[in-house]
Amino acid sequence: MTSVLVLNGPNLNLLGTRQPEIYGATTLPQVEELCREYGVKNGYDVTCAQSNHEGALVDIIHAAKGTHDGIVLNAGAYTHTSIALHDAILGTELPVVELHLSNIHARETFRHHSYIAPVAIGMICGFGVAGYTLALDALIGHLGGRT
Ligand code: DQA
Repeated sequence: MTSVLVLNGPNLNLLGTRQPEIYGATTLPQVEELCREYGVKNGYDVTCAQSNHEGALVDIIHAAKGTHDGIVLNAGAYTHTSIALHDAILGTELPVVELHLSNIHARETFRHHSYIAPVAIGMICGFGVAGYTLALDALIGHLGGRT
């Protein structure tokens, strides 16, 4: 398998119009297209998904096992609250790169803690939309590099 999942959580469907001073002007469909193109260039099939619902995100992570080799996950606000997502990642044993557009450590203190970080292979934050391809690069490198 040479397939990775880019999974976005709550409110990321509003990218482009939601607080553009923090999250930028690029829309989610544009981000997803960038990710797919990056995958093609590097020999990986990139599938993109987004949900605003915690349980749906858990289901998508479970379904990734056996389908994808790893996940780039921007869990949005669930990053800071969701033991269920933490457990789902542990349950699948898939490598996960945690991603945030903004630098969560330079923002409100409630964003400083991540339930994803202890079960991720690493985290990229603060680089805006470029973070998605940085995260894919990190994941593909972890998986053994370009095909
Ligand atoms: C975010 C950071 C989170 O704190 C926030 O709740 C988001 C987006 C980011 O990409 O910077 O929804 O994950």
